[in-house]
Amino acid sequence: MHSSKLSIAAGVSLALRLATAVKPEVNVYFGQYGTDTLASYCDSGGFDSVTLAFLSASPEADPATNYPATDFGTHCGTGVYMINNTASRLLSGCTGLASDIQYCQRLGKKVLLSTGGVWSPDPARNYAVTTEANGEFFADFLWNAFGAYNASWAGPRPFDTSSGKHTVLDGFDFDIEVEVLAQKGYIAMLKRLRGLVDIYNSAVGFQKVLITGAPQCPLIDGWADMKEIISTTAFDRLWIQFYNNDICQAGTARFNYAEWEAFISDGASQNARLYVGLPASMDTVGYVSTEEANTLVDNLRNRSSFGGVMIWDASIAKGNALNGVPMYQAIRNHMDQVSATPSPSYTRSSTVLSAASSFATSFSGNVSHSSILSSGYVQPTSSVIITDTCTSRTHGSTSSSAPTTTASTTPVDNGAPTITHANPSHTFSPVASAQRAQAKSSLPFFTVVVAFFMTVYA
Ligand SMILES: *[C@@H]1O[C@H](CO)[C@@H](O)[C@H](O)[C@H]1NC(C)=O
Ligand SMILES: *[C@@H]1O[C@H](CO)[C@@H](O)[C@H](O)[C@H]1NC(C)=O
Ligand SMILES: *[C@@H]1O[C@H](CO)[C@@H](O)[C@H](O)[C@H]1NC(C)=O
Ligand SMILES: *[C@@H]1O[C@H](CO)[C@@H](O)[C@H](O)[C@H]1NC(C)=O
Repeated sequence: MHSSKLSIAAGVSLALRLATAVKPEVNVYFGQYGTDTLASYCDSGGFDSVTLAFLSASPEADPATNYPATDFGTHCGTGVYMINNTASRLLSGCTGLASDIQYCQRLGKKVLLSTGGVWSPDPARNYAVTTEANGEFFADFLWNAFGAYNASWAGPRPFDTSSGKHTVLDGFDFDIEVEVLAQKGYIAMLKRLRGLVDIYNSAVGFQKVLITGAPQCPLIDGWADMKEIISTTAFDRLWIQFYNNDICQAGTARFNYAEWEAFISDGASQNARLYVGLPASMDTVGYVSTEEANTLVDNLRNRSSFGGVMIWDASIAKGNALNGVPMYQAIRNHMDQVSATPSPSYTRSSTVLSAASSFATSFSGNVSHSSILSSGYVQPTSSVIITDTCTSRTHGSTSSSAPTTTASTTPVDNGAPTITHANPSHTFSPVASAQRAQAKSSLPFFTVVVAFFMTVYA
């Protein structure tokens, strides 16, 4: 009996820790668009982590070198690594970006690398992993090229700086957007990577490196491109694309956050924090205004599953900034204003979500410009610029899928950006700042419930 009292006390203290540990955060994607440097975004702030897009093709897509492809828009030079005089598609001229990554890390921001994006059979964009052995090779490559420094690794490290400082990225993201690919290769890859990351994290003593995913929101079989990967490997964060998919996106009654919560609850990713992924472009199907996004945050923030908001992407948001404040920063400011003090007795009931849904229903997914403007979203710039921004910079492939407000079972892939390479100059003064160690504890929900009832009935 003595020991059970101790475990009750432990349970209560864990429950209270959980109740206060849930502070929502903002992740932005960066890389595909614009010419402003990563450092400039980190200086302006308004996000907690930034995910670089994309590592766009798997090693096996380029059998001549067995190197993966990277593509960061204008943010790297055009140079690529050579293997035996054969050009790979792995960019070697990312010196400015590499310094910026370290700069952002010194400012306390996590910098992650995303594998995936718009899939195509083009070897530069084909990230299929067809065998388990290829998956393990890919995991080792990712880890040794972008993770912890390994003196025995003879391969490239594209983000180490010219001064010889090694860059250890804060996470590996997976944005797998094609369901025809067999998932077994990726499952083997994720298991291998998870093992490497866990060994490293326990060595450094905190959750330095994360594994994250950006699944599209459909969970129905045939459309859930990452379902099996997520249920078999432990992801730390899932920034679900609640857009481009009329059957499940934010801003509609079909917003399926609760389904995602239920889906992860009994799989390997049951401790994953769920982020609401939103587009910053008004012409992306599923765009919601900043005000709607803030209401979504308020309605979800008491849920232990809730991690925050993801925005695609930083450059688009900057282009649509309201009074100079991009959408992600406005949401981040809102998160700071409303302090999260959820009661230990909350449960993952559907009450909160129905509040979110009924709110969302009033918008009916009708995201025409006029309805957005009349609902309070004021553009600081002229409508000409709105049109320009919305047609030229969407993540969603708007050309092939017009916005619709009716339920459809056809998810739309995220957009195919047009890539041009330039070499922007990087001028900034690094500022020393302690790196935040954001080890976050995620406990199974039953612990909270058990602790609560023990508290009540003790
Ligand atoms: C490069 O060429 C050498 C000599 O032919 C060969 O042993 C090596 O495996 C090649 N490396 C790659 C990565 O193909
Ligand atoms: C370090 O690199 C060597 C040589 O490529 C490799 O055998 C070893 O597995 C690597 N270590 C890790 C942790 O990946
Ligand atoms: C979240 O918890 C706080 C504190 O208990 C409470 O004031 C607030 O109403 C809750 N929000 C929702 C949406 O349930
Ligand atoms: C969307 O807005 C347009 C223009 O105001 C209106 O004609 C249409 O009926 C609306 N659709 C829905 C589903 O509310």
